[in-house]
Amino acid sequence: MYNYFVNRETEINSILNYLRTKSNIFVYGLRGIGKTTLLEKIQEKLIQSEKKTLYIDSYDILSPEDILALISERPIMDSRYAIKTLFERDDYVIIIDEFSSLIQTLARYPPFRRQDDVIKYIRSQIQARRKRGGESIILSSSALGFVKRITMKYFAPLFREFKLLFIGPMSFEHIYELALKNNLDEKIAREIAEVAVGNPFYARKIIELIIAQKISPRDAVFNLIASRGDLDIYFSALMDAIPAESRYILHLIARGIKRFYEIENKLYKDPTPYLKRLEENGLLAKVKKGRKFSEYIISDKVFQAWLLSQEIPSLGKISRDTIYISSLGFEALVRELFSAVTTRIEIKDWLDQRLEIPPFKTVFNLKGSDYEIDAIGLKNDEAYIFEVHFWGKARFYKVKQLIKNTEKFVKEYNKRVKERILISYFGYKLSEEEIQQIKKRGIKLLTAKELREIQSKINVKLGF
Ligand SMILES: Nc1ncnc2c1ncn2[C@@H]1O[C@H](COP(=O)(O)OP(=O)(O)O)[C@@H](O)[C@H]1O
Ligand SMILES: [Mg+2]
Repeated sequence: MYNYFVNRETEINSILNYLRTKSNIFVYGLRGIGKTTLLEKIQEKLIQSEKKTLYIDSYDILSPEDILALISERPIMDSRYAIKTLFERDDYVIIIDEFSSLIQTLARYPPFRRQDDVIKYIRSQIQARRKRGGESIILSSSALGFVKRITMKYFAPLFREFKLLFIGPMSFEHIYELALKNNLDEKIAREIAEVAVGNPFYARKIIELIIAQKISPRDAVFNLIASRGDLDIYFSALMDAIPAESRYILHLIARGIKRFYEIENKLYKDPTPYLKRLEENGLLAKVKKGRKFSEYIISDKVFQAWLLSQEIPSLGKISRDTIYISSLGFEALVRELFSAVTTRIEIKDWLDQRLEIPPFKTVFNLKGSDYEIDAIGLKNDEAYIFEVHFWGKARFYKVKQLIKNTEKFVKEYNKRVKERILISYFGYKLSEEEIQQIKKRGIKLLTAKELREIQSKINVKLGF
C-alpha cells in the first residue's frame, strides 16, 4: 500500500554506469535511508534487461549452508567453500545487502576464526573474479564505522577496486512527493516533509500513523518517539549498542552542549575516542569552528528530538514546543546549515545577486517583545537576519515582514545588520515591480536550489 518509489535517479544512474564497466560497488549510509529499496530497484532493472542476478539479504544467512542452498549447491558447513562457490558465479551480478552482517556470520564457521580472515579471503576471491572478467558485485552496509575501517585501514587494496557510493537523506521535495502518492493533501504532505527530515523510513512511519489515526504529522512524530512508539523502540536499540559515555555525549549535544571542551568538562574524561566512534557511526557530524573550536551536531533531527524527549534527571525535562522548535522543522534545519559554515562562501541568490556568507559565531532564533526572528547569524557586531518560509511560494508580505523584523531588532540591540535574507524553499511569487524593490534594498532571496548549493559547499548533508 505504501510501496511507492521516489527519487534516487542520481544513485541509480551511477550504479548502472558502474555495472557497464563491471566495477564493484559499495553502497553505504545510515539505517532506514533507503539502501535496500535502492538495491531492489537495481535488481528489478537488471532483470528487465535480462541480466542474471543473485540477491543475498545477509540477515537471512545464518550459516554457510544458507549461501550454498541459495545457489543450489549441496550445503556444507564450510565458510571458505561457500564464499568461493558464490563468487565463482561469474555471470551473475551479485548483490549482498548488509555485507558486514554476512562477514560476522561467516566468521563463526570453519575454517575461519576472525572477521579479518573472512575479509582477506573474500578479497582474494573478488580479485580472482575480476581477473576472469566476472560481473559486478554490489555490497551495502549501514555500519558506517565498519565501512570506514575496512576501506581505509585494513583492506584498502580490496576496496580501492570498489566504487564507494554514499546514500544520504532525501530532499524535502521527494518526501513531499511520497506523501502525495499516499493520497495525503498538499498541506499535510509539506508538513510530513518538514518533520521527516529527509529520512524515508521516518516518512513511511509517519504516513502510516497519519492514515491509521488521522492525526497531524507533528503529533505523529511525537507519538512515534514517545515511550514504546516505533521510533522509541528503534532509538532505544541503537542506544543499547553503544557505551554509556557515548550515550551521555549524545544527550549533552542534543541539549546544546556541543563544544569539545564543554563535553570534556561534563564527562570527566577524554571524550575523543567516543566522539570518533559516534562520528564513524554517522550519529554525529563534526563542524570545525576556527582553529581552536570544534562543534558537534546530530544530523538526524528526529533522533535529536527523541534524545530531548528522554527525561534525564540532571539535564531536566524539555517541553514539546521546545523540542519542536529546536529539532524538527525546516527553520531548525536552516539554522543548523548556517551554523555549519566554517569558511567564507559565496553564492548567487535567486535574483542572481552576489551573497557572501561568513562563518558565524552563533546562529539562533529570537523572540523579541512583539516580533520573532527565525534565524540570526552573528559575526562580531554584524548581524545577518533570516526570515524562513516553508509553506508554498513566498509572496511580498514575507519581504515586508523581514524588513519590519530587522528594524525592530536594530532598535532593541546594538548591532549592525549586514544582510537581510529571505529563504523560501518552494520559491517565490513576486511581480516585476516587487522584484525591483527587493533588489534596490539589497535583500537576498534563497530557494531550495541555493540551500543545496550551500550544503554541498560546506559538505554537510542535511537533506535540503
Ligand atoms: N526511494 C524510496 N522511495 C520510497 N520509499 C522509500 C525509498 N527508499 C526507502 N523508502 C522507505 O524507507 C524504508 C526504509 O528503507 P530501506 O531501503 O529499508 O533502508 P535501509 O536499507 O537503508 O536501512 C522502506 O521501507 C521504504 O518504505
Ligand atoms: Mg536495508
